[in-house]
Amino acid sequence: MIKTTILFLVITLLLASHKQKEKGLKDLFEDSFFIGVALNGRQVSSEDSKVNALIEGNFNSLSPENGLKWALVHPQPESYHFEFGDAYVALGEQLNAFTIGHCLVWHQQVPDWVFEDETGALVDKEELYSRMRTHIQTVAGRYKGKIQGWDVVNEAFNEDGSFRESKWFQIAGSDFIKEAFRNAAKADPEAELYYNDYNVWKASKRNGILDFAKEMKAEGIKIDAIGMQGHYQLESPSLEEIERGIIDIHEAGFKVMITELDVDVLPRPRSAEGADLNMNFANSEEYNPYKDGISPEAEAKLAQRYADIFAIFEKHKDKITRVTFWGLSDRNSWLNNFPVRGRTNYPLLFDRNLDPKKEVFEKLAGVIR
Ligand code: G3I
Repeated sequence: MIKTTILFLVITLLLASHKQKEKGLKDLFEDSFFIGVALNGRQVSSEDSKVNALIEGNFNSLSPENGLKWALVHPQPESYHFEFGDAYVALGEQLNAFTIGHCLVWHQQVPDWVFEDETGALVDKEELYSRMRTHIQTVAGRYKGKIQGWDVVNEAFNEDGSFRESKWFQIAGSDFIKEAFRNAAKADPEAELYYNDYNVWKASKRNGILDFAKEMKAEGIKIDAIGMQGHYQLESPSLEEIERGIIDIHEAGFKVMITELDVDVLPRPRSAEGADLNMNFANSEEYNPYKDGISPEAEAKLAQRYADIFAIFEKHKDKITRVTFWGLSDRNSWLNNFPVRGRTNYPLLFDRNLDPKKEVFEKLAGVIR
């Protein structure tokens, strides 16, 4: 009898510790918001069990990093590439994840033919709208019921809150944003629809976005949330600026989502766009300081930064429905190639070997204790 009881206790303890070990990010924040990850094609169809276990164990929402952008899914007027999208939504269903579509209308990663006639001149508004309608109906329509939320329009505002002078805007004015949302609502009436942008923590930009989003809502156009991308650095933006952004979006009547979170730990070359591209940043001690491994000081800063940011998210979990990381591990982050190519960055929670960053996880666990 005693032997049986001891055996039972041992098994229970073993099971409990196994369960404990399996606690992933999504479990840490299960009472707060979805924890998402942006995936590339290799990760969506991965045969690497470590990759699959990482995705399954830590995330309950998925975003497509590139594969559903116009240039990839619809490169020619009559040709669609759905291999990625089909595998992506299948994975979403398999994991029972909240599956995001990104993005229907953007000024980047969109082919020139969308805006041009056969002579290369810009098409008129009617033609542009017809192409937009076909695209949205075909792509969002195909994944109706399988994608739960779409980034309908991405990055249409300047930092001062004015409209970006994209080809969309040049041809159709600001109405292209409304038209995109009208089409998305028709293509999948059940899907949530989002406007998504970076630097939403900047008041000037945010005010422009929110004024327009409120105008859309008042006109009866469906728009559910504003996505704050969350491409942050170690020192900037301030926590107050992030928090103000969350509160303002909520008070304007929209759900808040952190849609593309990462923390750049590398120094930004001054005026990155105008940076001297002849300079070899990959070999620069100053601009690529951790090419053989991150220093303990920088890792500690990263851990603290994530803890501080998540403390704000936790505080406002009644307003935030999802926090998505822009990439699975440091190995694949876009920040290894932005704002200049070929550096070694450390912006995410899993390192180049796909192992969790211990210090960051410990600090994050402290946030919800
Ligand atoms: O696939 C080609 C490959 O064939 C080629 O050899 C290689 C060399 O340049 O390029 C590869 O394409 C790259 C693609 O990512 C896939 O890796 C493009 O050059 C590169 O520009 C593209 O970058 C993507 C970027 O959007 C485009 O603007 C990033 O992966 C992606 O993370 C990034 O995501 C955006 C969000 O959609 C919107 N918000 C900002 C965010 C970060 O820029």
